[in-house]
Amino acid sequence: MTDFSERVEQVSISGIREVFEAAGDDAINLGLGQPDFPTPDHARRAAIDAIEAGDVDAYTSNKGTLELREAISAKHERDNGVSVPPGNIIATSGGSEALHIAIEAHVDAGEEVVFPDPGFVSYDALTHLAGGTPKPVAVRDDLTLDPAAVEDAITDDTAAFVVNSPANPTGAVQSEADVREFARIADEHDVLCISDEVYEHFVFDGEHHSPLEFADSDNVVVVNACSKAYSMTGWRLGWVTGSEERIERMLRVHQYAQACASAPAQFAAEAALSGPQDCVTEMAEAFEERRDVLLDGLSDIGLETPTPSGAFYAMPKVPEGWCDEVVERGVVVVPGEAFGEHGAGYARISYATDMEQIKEALEIMGEAAEAVR
Ligand SMILES: Cc1ncc(COP(=O)(O)O)c(C=O)c1O
Repeated sequence: MTDFSERVEQVSISGIREVFEAAGDDAINLGLGQPDFPTPDHARRAAIDAIEAGDVDAYTSNKGTLELREAISAKHERDNGVSVPPGNIIATSGGSEALHIAIEAHVDAGEEVVFPDPGFVSYDALTHLAGGTPKPVAVRDDLTLDPAAVEDAITDDTAAFVVNSPANPTGAVQSEADVREFARIADEHDVLCISDEVYEHFVFDGEHHSPLEFADSDNVVVVNACSKAYSMTGWRLGWVTGSEERIERMLRVHQYAQACASAPAQFAAEAALSGPQDCVTEMAEAFEERRDVLLDGLSDIGLETPTPSGAFYAMPKVPEGWCDEVVERGVVVVPGEAFGEHGAGYARISYATDMEQIKEALEIMGEAAEAVR
């Protein structure tokens, strides 16, 4: 029999799935990585109109429609204060594919990729799939990534380091000073910084900054998506932004793996990015309110939680056996070790769930804490 590739054998199905499977059907799910809001009407409508007009029956350009890439370019100007020509953008099948092509195009077999631990599960898996070596770096006590730790981890074999602010699973937001440091490290060490900014609009304290604002070299590639910002996880539409040369290499991977992002999703994304943005503000306000209720509740239970300044996750320190106890009582949370060795002793709680369920879950989490103490 044909053996499976060594690369694929190093990757397993995400630990998050196992928790979902262990919980009953009527469980309160605080394990989800997607907003509990509908996709904005104008985005849905744009896709429907395009389908009805017969505009989505064919491949688009490999990079995506010019109109979508112009909308992404305008978004970079509006939100990040950077000028990016539409030619320096590839529309992808979600942020996931954007991360995949960024890593695939830059990481050689045996080369290292540095990323936060705990961190989003794809960084480790995609590094393995590229034949690279994951180099997880422990985050600080406040769960942010320390630029000095990243700099220490860089060797002659480092192909890239990943920055994710606001972060999954921690909700941590990097300060402007840190982001400037990441840009400097990318410049001075001549190493690629992959900046995963899919949660950029959900920042409650401070402001979102991208290394792209500060780097002098072309060593920053930005990964972003409509998935979280516009509650469009099912549409599968993201993008990657980089220099002409880097885009040309990433396009080689995208062209053969994907050809182009789904055409209806491209129309929806264009409308989402260029239409009214109040849906984003409303979601951000709702998440902030829920975060505050959750943090108060966790503190009442006696669980210490580094304040998450963004995204829609909190990561309390939890006693041994707490996650299992909570899941058994019908609330899904994800054990921190699903996100790396340094996630052990923490749990990821997503608050992309309505307030009533969060309050109900807090009661149960309190009972579980009593039970294991
Ligand atoms: C940090 C981070 N990056 C990228 C992604 C991928 O997002 P998408 O659904 O657009 O593929 C996720 C999804 O959970 C994420 O949390």
